[in-house]
Amino acid sequence: MMNETQSSAGNPPRVLIGEDQIRQRIAELAAELNRDYAGKQLLLVGVLKGAIIFMMDLARAIQVPLSLDFMAVSSYGDSTQSSGVVRIIKDLEENVEGKHVLVVEDIIDTGLTLTYVLQSISARNPASLKVCAFLRKQKALQLSVPVDYVAFDIPDVFVIGYGLDYAERNRNIPYVAVWEGETASSD
Ligand code: IMP
Ligand code: MG
Repeated sequence: MMNETQSSAGNPPRVLIGEDQIRQRIAELAAELNRDYAGKQLLLVGVLKGAIIFMMDLARAIQVPLSLDFMAVSSYGDSTQSSGVVRIIKDLEENVEGKHVLVVEDIIDTGLTLTYVLQSISARNPASLKVCAFLRKQKALQLSVPVDYVAFDIPDVFVIGYGLDYAERNRNIPYVAVWEGETASSD
């Protein structure tokens, strides 16, 4: 069976951000976080599922003591367009009150998911609440969504890989690629 990340011609998806570039940028972000959270204890809140690969690489590069928790929300379904509806699928397990929370997001597109997650967490009185996003699309720059750390700014294209999916597939591509759609003969 043909690999679903391949086009009918068998070409791998087009690289937008390569593995080395990702590794290097994560080291830079971790150094920044180590400085900004020096002497503090950090709670990384990953937004499932897209953020987990970034979150795990980032967590391993951070040296301040940290714990991990997860939230799952959905705004897309199996589409490449935001549905505009955010649902909580899984809530946090830890009590975030008095903690330094860093929300780890895969990508900021419309900003809807992030706005919702931030509202939900800030209502629980964390000591601080910041955001670290792996990717941010151009259109998100016009929004007033507060994003404290961003690994990469990208154009308004649909991307896959490094945790990001199209209809739950392609999360395991180790780099970021532009989704070029399913070719007629690939399914
Ligand atoms: P937002 O609420 O529109 O900012 O979208 C946030 C969520 O939609 C992200 O956390 C992703 O899971 C998903 N998403 C947005 N853009 C893309 C993309 O280009 N590729 C894959 N998933 C995306
Ligand atoms: Mg998704």
